[in-house]
Amino acid sequence: MQLLDGKALSKKIELEVTSDVKTLKDKCGCTPGLAVVLVGQDPASATYVNMKKKACDRVGFYSITHDMPQSISQEAIEKTIIMLNNDTNVDGILIQLPLPEHIDTTKLLELVEPAKDVDGFHPFNVGRLVTNLDGFVPCTPLGVMELLKEYEIDVKGKNCVVIGASNIVGKPMASLLLNADATVEICHIHTDSLKKHTLNADIILVAVGIINLITDDMVKDDVIIIDIGVSRTTEGKLVGDVDFENVSKKSSFITPSPGGVGPMTIAMLLKNTLKAAKINAKDKK
Ligand code: GUN
Repeated sequence: MQLLDGKALSKKIELEVTSDVKTLKDKCGCTPGLAVVLVGQDPASATYVNMKKKACDRVGFYSITHDMPQSISQEAIEKTIIMLNNDTNVDGILIQLPLPEHIDTTKLLELVEPAKDVDGFHPFNVGRLVTNLDGFVPCTPLGVMELLKEYEIDVKGKNCVVIGASNIVGKPMASLLLNADATVEICHIHTDSLKKHTLNADIILVAVGIINLITDDMVKDDVIIIDIGVSRTTEGKLVGDVDFENVSKKSSFITPSPGGVGPMTIAMLLKNTLKAAKINAKDKK
């Protein structure tokens, strides 16, 4: 069994981004900028946003967080997004999800300028991903593909089972795998007999948020496991969706959780923001 070390790879990527930021600054005086919109008091969202901001600081980006109260109106957030779309210091806009129930999330995501959509959630970028055209790709699935590439795992022709069909992870994950010539199944909450599907999988990618959803009787020998789920146990420990202790014994490769996919998500946000900044820098010339 070999661990897929996302922590180590994300550090390597951060160094590359830092070096590219310096080059960009020398060339045109441009500093990549990321604006984050955070609404309400969700502690997990606040933690994620804080980690993203710290990563921006480490690589030399400009970053700004628009911290808004839970009770804020749709119109006020829309105004902020329009302002950020027009702000030349901002290359990337990220709306931290989930948003409060009274907010129309889809409308906000569609309002973000596609060229600044570093989360890849705008339907324009979703369409480009599905049709295998260049665009912005959601950070978590993109990070998974980078991790697989780093360990020279070719998905071509492999049976990949994606568990979880969210717009943020499951669906873009499936598109990326399909674009890389994998055979892809998407399982979700209504799937009948998950085990029937997982037993046939060469690679299992699970993003559900249910502790110990995947147990060793559900996987074949030498399976590759990508654990994208994050949950907190009653003792407060962060864990994934996979019974790591037992499933790892049957795996050829497995991500730890935490320390696998999580750090890659942030590294990909940096890469996407740098990509947006490079495109904008060309326009400024
Ligand atoms: N909430 C959970 N994951 C994500 C993510 O990748 N991006 C944003 N914006 N919100 C999230």
